[in-house]
This record gives sequence, structure tokens and C-alpha cells, in this order.
Amino acid sequence: MELIGAFCLVLISILTLVYVYFKNAFNYWKSRNIPCDEPTIPYGTFKGFGKTIHPSHFIKNVYDKYKPTGEKVCGLYFFARPVAVLLDLDIVKHVMIKDFANFNERGLYYNEEDDPLSAHLFSLDGDKWKKLRAKLTPTFTSGKMKFMFPTVVEVGDRFRNCLFDVVKGNNELEIKELLARFTTDVIGTCAFGIECNSLKDPNAEFRKYGRESFAKPRHSTHFLELINGFRSLAKKLHVKIVRHDVSEFFMKVVRDTVEYREKNDVNRNDFMDLLIKLKNQETTDKDKVITLNEVAAQAFVFFLAGFETSSTTLTFCLYELALNPEIQTRTRRVIREALEKHNGQFTYEAMMDMPYVDQVLEETLRKYPPVANLNRRTKNDYRVPGSKIVLEKGLSIIIPAYAIQHDPEIYPSPEQFNPDRFDAEEAKKRDAMAWLPFGDGPRNCIGLRFGMMQARIGLVTLLNNFEFALGSKTPVPLIFETSQFILSPVGGVYLKLTPIKS
Ligand code: HEM
Repeated sequence: MELIGAFCLVLISILTLVYVYFKNAFNYWKSRNIPCDEPTIPYGTFKGFGKTIHPSHFIKNVYDKYKPTGEKVCGLYFFARPVAVLLDLDIVKHVMIKDFANFNERGLYYNEEDDPLSAHLFSLDGDKWKKLRAKLTPTFTSGKMKFMFPTVVEVGDRFRNCLFDVVKGNNELEIKELLARFTTDVIGTCAFGIECNSLKDPNAEFRKYGRESFAKPRHSTHFLELINGFRSLAKKLHVKIVRHDVSEFFMKVVRDTVEYREKNDVNRNDFMDLLIKLKNQETTDKDKVITLNEVAAQAFVFFLAGFETSSTTLTFCLYELALNPEIQTRTRRVIREALEKHNGQFTYEAMMDMPYVDQVLEETLRKYPPVANLNRRTKNDYRVPGSKIVLEKGLSIIIPAYAIQHDPEIYPSPEQFNPDRFDAEEAKKRDAMAWLPFGDGPRNCIGLRFGMMQARIGLVTLLNNFEFALGSKTPVPLIFETSQFILSPVGGVYLKLTPIKS
């Protein structure tokens, strides 16, 4: 009896401590006069985030509620941790570009020792990030893209042939999976120099592990946020975030590829080649070289960041073109005119001669930015220009890209798909921070050029060979998978493909 009494006492004391801890923490925004929804224990204001509601819509609701108040920033609590959401494009510009030195971190968890693949460019912070970014930037110049162009076109041709075969049996296809196989093969070839074969074999290992990395991550969105909030503790507890089987597979592929290339002196001028050169540099400056684990982590992030973002962009694009046949016809006409001008050859120059194709992709990325919310962390206390608000050292910041790109004051009738918004003259009238699918500033997407090239090649190849109409199983509007970090349609997108006889 006494034991039960003691147990109850301990339990009540712990619950009281937890209650007091949360109540104190929940005073953060109120005491600074910054608007915030009423938090509850234990989720703070994040109840439903990534569970019943997709993070894009969750943050859009917050933005839509607080932006009309004229405030530049509003607050949230993820559990007890305060998070700031930027509501003003000027402040966004300060954080991403003008005062970048104070916001060059994302504050994500990684663990080099126990989970080497987690220590990639996207998650690294501070000096490590800065040095690695400088080393990797030359990998993505337009010269390098031009060099890789024919390889990507080749994969595009294989994709077209594969689709011709598939539509013979059934012309209503789930296009997201097929596009993911195309981008997996592209990035597998360009990052690893390996023919992943996922176009022919849907269960090819690259596709399998790529698919599972997104569809079945090691931790839920909530748990990941908890890990991000307690990074030092998580490191001490040896917490890993990359799935064990995914890690084993990629480490082995990279180890084998590097070994083979070094032994046989293979130079392919692809991403892997450039990473190996960084590893083998002869220099006494330790900062300039990277280890095999670092090679693997970067190849891994190029793979993950490279295939899913581009394939979902193409999926959303074809969906919109199926819904808007007149835009589809116009895009096809522009493609054919440019190809004709370039003697029927799909060259790099021909691709750059199709500005309307870019407008279609830009409008797709406006309506469906694969990374809906961008993250930064404050390095030192920062007074928001033109206000009394101070973003304190260590505070997590959300830049609500999806919400900004659906703001009717910036994009009238935001649900309407209208590539003319990105006509050069129209685009010039808007604030540069109003379009953020690749982020901005020194920490923007390093693979922007490659991602756009891959999407252009995919779109040109597809529209030149097929007509697209909406399939019977596709809902309008699309519903997003709430638990996936990248914007992704539930159940994929079914489209009817009709081959075009040329
Ligand atoms: C349509 C395609 C793509 C989209 C929409 C996209 C989007 C993004 C976004 C929003 C960020 C964060 C930017 C920020 O915080 O300001 C990012 C970062 C990054 N992306 Fe992409 N991405 C795409 C393709 C690629 C490709 C093809 C690669 C590599 C081959 C890549 C590699 C990376 C890496 C490594 C980072 C981290 C950069 C850093 O922190 O320094 N991405 N991407």
C-alpha cells in the first residue's frame, strides 16, 4: 500500500513538473506580444501537423489567419519549442539573403558517427556546411549540366519507349510511379553512373529503396521534429534517422562504385566522379578533402533530393495540363516549333529555346512546391527591421513557401493554373521572394539547374509523343499525403495517354 502511495506521489510530482514546464514554455510568444494560437499539452499548436493535415496546408492556415493582422511574424509551438513563421516578404528577404550570415542553419538533426548518410549538405550546419557547399558548388555549373544533357535525353528516350509499350495494354496509367522511375534512372546514371533499370523493372533496388525512403521513413514527422528539438540528447542516445536497409544499400553501392572507378581509372564526369576527385585531392589542407562516408552522404542526398522533387513536379505538371487542354496544346506547339528551328534535334540549345515550357514548370512549382515550408535557425539574437520583434538565438524559423505562393494578394486566383504569370514582364512585377520552390540565397537548392533540366527533358519528351487526359480515378482537386514531407498526391495520379503519330 505504501509502495502504491509512493508511486502515486512520484507520478503526481512528475506530471506537475511537466505541466509547469509546458505552461512556462507556452508563455514565450505571449510575453513578446507576438500572435499565436492557444497551445495545448503536449503538441503545442502542432496538433494534426503531418497527421490529419499536410504541413503545407497547416502552415497556410496559420499564414492566412495572421497575415491580415499586419504582423510580420507569428508564433507556433512544436511541443514546448517555439517556432516563428515569417509573414512578410521583406523579412523573408532579410533572413534568406540580406542577413543570411545570421540564418545560415536549418537546425536539423544529423549523426555522422552512427548514421553517416544523415550528414549531408541539406542537414549540415555552420562551418561544415559552408566548406562542403563551396566544394560541391562546381558540380552544378551550367557547363556541367550541358555535359550531362545527352545522358538525361537518352534516359528520356528509354522512358518514351517504355511508355509506348505500356499504353498498348492499358492507356490509363498511374503516372507518378512511372515518372519516379524515370527520375530514378536519371539520377542513378548521373550521380552513381549506374543503370538503375527501374524503367524496365519496377522492383529494381534503387527504385525500391528510393520509394521506401519517402513512403516508409524511419520516424514519423512528429518524432522527427522531437529529435530536431533535442539534437544533443538524440546524438548521445545514438539516434539514427536513415532506415537501416536504405543505409546498408547506399553505403555498399557507393563503396563498390568508388572502388571500381579507382581501380579501373574510370572518369565519367558525373556527380560521383566529382565527389571522388574531392576525396582524392592531393593537398595538405584537410578542409578541402572529403571522406568516403562524406562522399556517400552527398551521393545519397543528390539521389533523394533529385528524384522525388523532380518526379512530383512532372506529375503535378501533367495533371494540370490534362485539366487544361488548351495550355497543353500551346506547350506542345512551342516545343515542336523550337525543335523544328533546331533541325528536329533535341539539343541543349533547343531546350533553352522554349521559354514557355519553363513558364509551365514555374507555374507548376508555384502551385505545388515539393518542399512546402523552408527552415532556418537564428544564430544570434536578431531584431526584425522596422519592428520591435527580436528573433532570439537558436529560434526555429519557418518560411511558408506554399502559403506565399497561394496568397491571392500576390497571385490573384491562386488555384487557377496560369503559366502566363511567369511571362518575363509579369514575373518582373512581383517580389523575388514570392516564388520559392528552390528556396533562395546562399542556402538555396544546389541542384536547381539539374532539377529544371531533368523536368524540362521529361516534359518535352512526353508532350512531343503523347496527349494527356484526366483518368477516372484522379480526384480534382488533388489530395496530399499528410504524412509525407514532400508534396505528394494520395494514391498517385491516373492519366489517359494517347500516343501521337508523328
Ligand atoms: C524540381 C526539383 C527540385 C526542387 C523543387 C528542389 C527544392 C529544394 C529546396 C526548396 C531546397 C531548400 C532550399 C532552401 O532552404 O532555401 C533544396 C535544397 C537542396 N537540394 Fe533541391 N530541389 C530540386 C532538385 C534537386 C536536385 C536534382 C538535387 C541534386 C542533384 C538537389 C539537391 C539539393 C541539396 C543538396 C540541397 C541542400 C542545399 C544546402 O543546404 O546547401 N535538389 N532543394
